Amino acid sequence: MSGKFAPKIPFKSPYLPENPKILGVQEGYDLWSEIYDEESNSLILLEEMHLVPQLLQKQYCSILDCGCGTGRLAICLRDSFSEASIVGVDFSEGMLQKARQKSVGQRISWHNADLNKPFLFADGQFDLIVSSLVIEHISALDNYFAEIKRVAATQADIFISGLHPAMHLMGISARFKNKENTSHIMPESLCHNLSDVFNAAIAAGLKVVRIEEYSVDDRLISRCEKAARYAGMPLLFIMKMAK
Ligand SMILES: C[S@@+](CC[C@H](N)C(=O)[O-])C[C@H]1O[C@@H](n2cnc3c(N)ncnc32)[C@H](O)[C@@H]1O
Repeated sequence: MSGKFAPKIPFKSPYLPENPKILGVQEGYDLWSEIYDEESNSLILLEEMHLVPQLLQKQYCSILDCGCGTGRLAICLRDSFSEASIVGVDFSEGMLQKARQKSVGQRISWHNADLNKPFLFADGQFDLIVSSLVIEHISALDNYFAEIKRVAATQADIFISGLHPAMHLMGISARFKNKENTSHIMPESLCHNLSDVFNAAIAAGLKVVRIEEYSVDDRLISRCEKAARYAGMPLLFIMKMAK
């Protein structure tokens, strides 16, 4: 069963910040957008080590980045797929504004839309769909996967990555420090177990090609010292899917 929008842990976790401020997802990311690209983020570093190489193994013509944020992946993919049509969708205007500023002249199409609602794209439009570090904020997994399936081309590759649910159970979810560096702000997030994600994808008619889980290791700690606090813990999952 998926959890509700709240950190829900049965014990006092040393990893849960004191008196965090919990904001709605959109509002939270609008605020986070001001510093999102400046922070060193161990989850993003781990994802860049393990997901990005997988996205570069084939040629793609039409790419959708669901929950594109400040455009990190869409802009990175533009470097490798110079001719592809690339679309990024997010519902935080703050995050999208950063993406637009960073990608002037790069022919990436940015859309403000909610992934909990029907997607505004044609059936079979995309041959690569990526949705990175977004799923913990998605409440309507059935709609999300049904729409991903609908807009995926027959031969599409689909990659979903997320914060590992084991971290959620310890009280860790997407969060950042306020400007004054005095308290944590947490956009609402859900603890979807890997089985929730797997089953929702299967129920939507997608094929799960593989599931990968990555823990905090020495390589990551050498790039991000603060990750040492989570040494050995599973931090990231990636699911590759097909239509
Ligand atoms: C942790 S950020 C990840 C951004 C980007 N994918 C990356 O990996 O850098 C999560 C993003 O998901 C977006 N998001 C969350 N729920 C969403 C929804 N229902 N519809 C659209 N975007 C959503 C947030 O606004 C935020 O930009």
